[in-house]
Amino acid sequence: MIQALKGDRVSPPPIWLMRQAGRYLPEYRAVREVAGGFLNLCYDPEKAADVTLQPLRRFGFDAAILFSDILVIPHALGQNVTFEAGEGPRLDPIRDADGLGRLSMDNIHESLGPIYETVKRVSEDLPEGAALIGFAGAPWTVATYMVEGSGSRDYPNAKAWALGNPDGFQVLVDLLVDATTEYLLRQVKAGAEALQLFDTWAGVLPKYAFDRFSGEPIREIARRVKAEYPDIPIIAFPRGANLYLPEFAKAPEIDAIGIDYAVDPVWAAREIQPHATVQGNFDPILLLAGGDQLEIRAREIVDALSDGPHVFNLGHGILPQTPLEHVERLIKAVRG
Ligand code: CP3
Repeated sequence: MIQALKGDRVSPPPIWLMRQAGRYLPEYRAVREVAGGFLNLCYDPEKAADVTLQPLRRFGFDAAILFSDILVIPHALGQNVTFEAGEGPRLDPIRDADGLGRLSMDNIHESLGPIYETVKRVSEDLPEGAALIGFAGAPWTVATYMVEGSGSRDYPNAKAWALGNPDGFQVLVDLLVDATTEYLLRQVKAGAEALQLFDTWAGVLPKYAFDRFSGEPIREIARRVKAEYPDIPIIAFPRGANLYLPEFAKAPEIDAIGIDYAVDPVWAAREIQPHATVQGNFDPILLLAGGDQLEIRAREIVDALSDGPHVFNLGHGILPQTPLEHVERLIKAVRG
């Protein structure tokens, strides 16, 4: 996995799945049921470490991804964050300078400490040959939740602030760059061997705003992390930013680019692989559907990207209804 992230062609490609620790696993649901709220599970190092390793025990993936959530950063900055069953996250929205004034970096490590402990435990128990990926949300995506107060279809408040008052919005982004850098540095110190930045909503921004509020903050975090840990591979997943990716992939501090399922892997081999490892991009809905198309399309992705560095993954997170047998078939198709 680490070799592939550093630019080596590895055959068959290493495989892990975004959201691989989650509700499609009966063993996850069992732990989740006794953990209390979702955030309690994120802040319980023993349970979170167990849940992180569950998919590796069952499927033998080549990487574990820390079990946590991107919204622990707003929580650590002092914003109220809750998860209601079946409804997704809820935050007290921040819409202006007043709201920003209530956020503070002062106690972030106290709040995030249990997560560093999770990383440490997982790194001690990691199966031979598997890599441990730490992660955080990228500033733009985390900001969308902080400003809207929930998931949203088109991000009217966050976008209006970012596009209408870019210098004001930059204050929030800069705070997130600082907090996220500190958070990731501690994850590496605790044993994370690679880092992924999830920018789930990068695709809603026009090019100039993508550059300023998605691409540049990710690059700045990567530069600062690498100033202390030059060898740590960094994966960026700017979902939906497809036509911006070839230029973004040239950034020297970004080692790998996650591509979503809407990107043609043949195009990615030509436009992205010369500059960065490509991670992706099997459609999670086809994983749910199963059947012969599962094997055919998995092989197609492997073949398209086989001349350069590739990490096999989904084009977005695995869905809770996904049958376990389909995951087994996917791994066989990729490794076979
Ligand atoms: O990949 C993994 O297995 C590691 C853990 C992980 C979670 N969330 C656990 C989780 C990771 C990497 C994330 C990232 C995350 N969280 C993103 C970016 C990636 C993406 O999927 O786009 C985003 C946007 C979030 C915010 C978030 N967390 C939402 C919108 C939700 C609710 C949606 C849902 O599926 O319920 C969550 C909750 C969440 N995060 C769950 C898990 C396993 C489900 C909560 C539960 O178990 O009740």
